Parts: sequence; structure tokens; C-alpha cells
Amino acid sequence: MAVKHLIGLNFTSENDIQTILNTAFDLKNHYGAALNTAPKSLSDKNLVLAFFENSTRTRMSFELALKHLGAGTLGFTSDSSSIKKGETFTDTLKTFESMAVDGVIIRHPHSGAAQTISSLINKPVINAGDGLHEHPTQALLDMFTLRECFGKLNGLRILILGDILHSRVARSNIFGLQKMGAHVSLCAPITLLPAGLNRMNVSLYSNLDRALEDVDAVIVLRLQLEREAGGFIPSIDDYSRHYKLSEHHLDKLSKKVFILHPGPLNREIELTNTIADNPFSDSRFQSMILNQVTNGIIVRMASLQYIFC
Ligand code: CP
Repeated sequence: MAVKHLIGLNFTSENDIQTILNTAFDLKNHYGAALNTAPKSLSDKNLVLAFFENSTRTRMSFELALKHLGAGTLGFTSDSSSIKKGETFTDTLKTFESMAVDGVIIRHPHSGAAQTISSLINKPVINAGDGLHEHPTQALLDMFTLRECFGKLNGLRILILGDILHSRVARSNIFGLQKMGAHVSLCAPITLLPAGLNRMNVSLYSNLDRALEDVDAVIVLRLQLEREAGGFIPSIDDYSRHYKLSEHHLDKLSKKVFILHPGPLNREIELTNTIADNPFSDSRFQSMILNQVTNGIIVRMASLQYIFC
């Protein structure tokens, strides 16, 4: 049987996305907060968490997901590995394979790293975020969270706001949300929009108030200063003046809007503290940011089951 991977949502079918989301809903309905009582369906597996770039949410939620499913976890951090002694990426991966690990979960700063690994070793590869390419499990947990909010994805109007150029989260969400029937629009300074958007069937805005008209939810993105996003804007103050999501933008809308952000946040640059920290459902806007983090565990359990079960 062919080895199954989760490299990105561009080449994941609507049916497979639906399967992962449905599995995640089944897990939540059956086990709720007691995910540790879920069947240990991966008890015969050992997976490497190969992190070549910093992470808090993705790494910890994969660790918990693997634990809840009974799998063994081999933690690998490039900074404390033999990479520091000059070992190559390929030799590192071949070393994992020689230890007969059952799969690799990879976070890497270079676009295409996950695809490269899938051609180097004959084991399932799950992309935990590679460069500017894709972050499929983040988009899956975003879609899961949106489906919890609205009961559906089809027909929703989702605005992605901010540093689209450097965002693997935006790319995965565009592919995934469109496959599930949502309408996606983007709002960013023109310098933070990637080439090729005309092939992606998205609406583009540079004015935030206009972009917000009639949206159901906003996915706010991090300004990726570590990827030199600062060089694409006049200044952070200027960016915030035009693109920081603030109460005054949301208060004048005719309907309630749900707010998502993949994290980590640059507070008061991308959105105000008031919006980020408002989980109240009776408000005109509701932050789902911590719900996303919680849902990340279930969605990663479902993604692992999709690959291995
Ligand atoms: N959203 C996300 O990928 O967060 P981390 O970098 O903390 O994993």
C-alpha cells in the first residue's frame, strides 16, 4: 500500500479533509476533555517530532495527540542535534529511518522541506509547517473551530488579514476553506501579498473597513518579523494604523464576527488586546484563539488517525 502523507491541503481532497474533520468531531463528542481515554490506536508506533524551527502550540499539541493515541514520541530539535556538528539534513533523515521510526512530523524554515523528506524516506510525513509553503494541521484546526462556530463551512465568508506573503497558514487555509465551499478574501498591504493570487479565486482588499463588510470570521495573521516582514512595510506603526483589527472596526458591523489567530500574537500590532482576550459569546465579536489551541490536539489526533489507521 502507498505511504500516506499530509504535506499540504493543496493536494488533499475535499473528501479527505472532511474525513479528518469528522473524525475530530467524533473524538470531541465521544471523549470531550477526557481525550486520554480514547483508544490507543497508535500504540505500536514511534514517531519523530523533528523541529528545525521554534514552536509552542504545534509541537505540544502533537506531543499530546501522540500520547493520547498511545504512540511513542522521539523529540528532535535541530539546535541540540548532530546537525550542529555538520550532519546533513538527508543524513539526519536517513538516521531516523534506520531506527525504524514509523513516521516523521516535521517543522522546518524552508518551503518544500516536508515534500523533500517524503521522497527521502519510505515513511509517512506530516508537515507541521514548512517555510512559506503550508501548515495543513493549523488550517484543519482553524476549519474545525469555524465549523464549531457556525455548524458548517460551506458558504461562510472568511477574511484572512495581515502578512499573507509569509504565511503558510494563509496558504493552507485558502486551499482548505475553498475546497469546503467557503468564500475567502484577503486584506493586506500590497507589499505583503504573494504573486499568483489571481489564480486562487480570492477577493483582495487593501482597506480593512471595506474588507470587513459582510464577513463571518476573520483569521488575523502574525506579522512575521523573523522573516523580514518589517522590510515590506514603512514601519510597524504604519502597519498597525492601517491593519490592526480594533473594536472600532467591529462595532460598526451589522453582525457578530468570530476572530481567529494561529498564534503566537504580536499584541497591539495585529489586533487589540480587547479583541484577542474577549471569549464572550454574547459580544459583537468573539475571540476563538484559545479554542483553536485546544482544538489543535483533537485535530492532530484525527490527522494521525487519517495517516495511520
Ligand atoms: N500556530 C503555530 O504554528 O504556532 P507555533 O509556532 O507555536 O507552533
